[in-house]
Amino acid sequence: MKDEVKELIPEAEITKRVRELGEQISKDYAGKELHVICILKGGVFFMCELVKHITVPVTHDFMAVSSYGDGTVSSGRIKIVKDLDDSIEGKDVLIVEDIIDSGRTLQHLLQVLGARNPKSIRLCTLLNKPDRREVEIPVDYIGFSIEDLFVVGYGLDYAQHYRNLPYVGVVEV
Ligand code: IMP
Ligand code: MG
Repeated sequence: MKDEVKELIPEAEITKRVRELGEQISKDYAGKELHVICILKGGVFFMCELVKHITVPVTHDFMAVSSYGDGTVSSGRIKIVKDLDDSIEGKDVLIVEDIIDSGRTLQHLLQVLGARNPKSIRLCTLLNKPDRREVEIPVDYIGFSIEDLFVVGYGLDYAQHYRNLPYVGVVEV
């Protein structure tokens, strides 16, 4: 399977960037406690590495969402497949996602979670595809902005495969 994927961002570059993001987040949240919400499944690979470089106290929760509607176009109406275990009221929340494409998933999630009265909400994504954005959302931490390519690895899947690749690549069809 590995041979079908062309490397786009090498493992060493991701490791370096994830460390930088962790250090930046630690500075920004100095003196605070951070509640990290990981968006399953893709975000979990990134989150696990990121939090190792965060030096303020961190708690974790997980959420799984799926897009309503057909095929490859994100409808923007998302279904919560697994909700959070804990309340986020009064907490400084950081949402950790694998990739932001149209932005519709996170736009909806920000509305849903924002209504639960957190103290603050910020977004952190490993990858960003700015050319694909359909709705404006504030993204506070971005690992890499990439072209409009379908990528896999480091948590990202193609039909549930390739999440375990240690690098980000493009599936060659
Ligand atoms: P959005 O609502 O369009 O921003 O959807 C983002 C979601 O689409 C991500 O959480 C991924 O699950 C999926 N996605 C978007 N682009 C890619 C890609 O290049 N590879 C794998 N999954 C992707
Ligand atoms: Mg996803």
